[in-house]
Amino acid sequence: MTTRETLAGELIRARDRTLRLVDFDDAELRRQYDPLMSPLVWDLAHIGQQEELWLLRGGDPQRPGLLSAEVDQLYDAFVHSRAARVDLPLLPPTDARNYCATVRGRALDTLEALPDGHPDEFAYALVISHENQHDETMLQALSLRSGAPLLDRGDPLPPGRSGVAGTSVLVTGGEFVLGVDAVTEPFSLDNERPAHTVDVPDFRIGRVPVTNAEWRQFLDDGGYAQRRWWSDAGWTHRQQAGLTRPLFWNADGTRTRFGHVEDIPGDEPVQHVTYYEAQAYAAWAGARLPTEIEWEKACAWDPATGARRRFPWGTAEPTADVANLGGGALRPAPVGAFPASASACGAEQMLGDVWEWTSSPLRPWPGFTPMIYRQYSEPFFDGTASGEYRVLRGGSWAVAAGILRPSFRNWDHPIRRQIFSGVRLAWDV
Ligand code: AVJ
Ligand code: FE
Repeated sequence: MTTRETLAGELIRARDRTLRLVDFDDAELRRQYDPLMSPLVWDLAHIGQQEELWLLRGGDPQRPGLLSAEVDQLYDAFVHSRAARVDLPLLPPTDARNYCATVRGRALDTLEALPDGHPDEFAYALVISHENQHDETMLQALSLRSGAPLLDRGDPLPPGRSGVAGTSVLVTGGEFVLGVDAVTEPFSLDNERPAHTVDVPDFRIGRVPVTNAEWRQFLDDGGYAQRRWWSDAGWTHRQQAGLTRPLFWNADGTRTRFGHVEDIPGDEPVQHVTYYEAQAYAAWAGARLPTEIEWEKACAWDPATGARRRFPWGTAEPTADVANLGGGALRPAPVGAFPASASACGAEQMLGDVWEWTSSPLRPWPGFTPMIYRQYSEPFFDGTASGEYRVLRGGSWAVAAGILRPSFRNWDHPIRRQIFSGVRLAWDV
């Protein structure tokens, strides 16, 4: 298969997924489920608008497109905050669908006409990543939706295995190659590059993410009420926001997931916690959060060969036997569900299930060069008035397999928890 054929397939697959996430009536699509999220119809048209910009308008917003300039700017994420989007004169759902379909038809024609290996292939990969990332954003919105469930309980997952929760593995100290480059990963995004050597002392890392049962012990031990486990900023936020348990956990010991009320599975990785909660949990557990550099080493480095593995388990593309990805499950898999996912150091479930908070603020790697979508990463390196972004690694169950790599970097405000975020602990040795 040519790269262009692979890209066309991934575009189509992403679109199928998007359309399933907006397969609701117009009133539903225009609703603001929460001020943290856009109405679904904004994400839909924004997906098309970005695709048109990068694939059909050469990335130049001055170049006329299918929409009027006034409508086009409604979908500029830097102009309109998420909270304000519900009040904009957005394209009606039918128009948004038609617009996306027209753009897509032209984008596929343009792709087909591209010579093999043309540098523009990167823009297609970027658009595929962008659409899939917004699909995850739409899932976050849907999880905040109140009322009778719109989505079912999700696809079945393999069972977990006992004996792995709370255990850790050693990552032997020494140099490793952090990040990737255009040769090894031609579709890696700007913030993953360039590859460079860093020295990391010995440390231990959780074999699997922290589970709901473990988090329950933190709760029962009064962890949310004890100042000593929390950072200054974390404690201030905990008090202001009144945090007493993960988002979507109910007072009666159940949780609400996409509108379904259910028991909290003890062996599932905890999700919907802020960076501050993750930090406090780690302190209570006598551990700390890994840095993102440690995390990537545990995920990708093979000391036996002195080289990176493309995936934690080796070279094979992710399948349902090694990772819970793609969004179908609507929840993380229990810990121990993927023994074949182990990285060289023995860490499991590094890709999929939950995004794992790291202690690292988002910074460029030395030699960072922005890609064609200059504003994808660069504006976020300095944080905002409310603080620095923290890096999350590994991808959640909602991430599309085709866009995820051990080097993939996500980030968010330390107070966010509508995202599918969890925790993996680390220890000095
Ligand atoms: C990389 C997930 C933080 O959602 O803000 C989507 C991805 N960038 N459109 C975000 C993104 C532009 C971004 N994250
Ligand atoms: Fe976007």
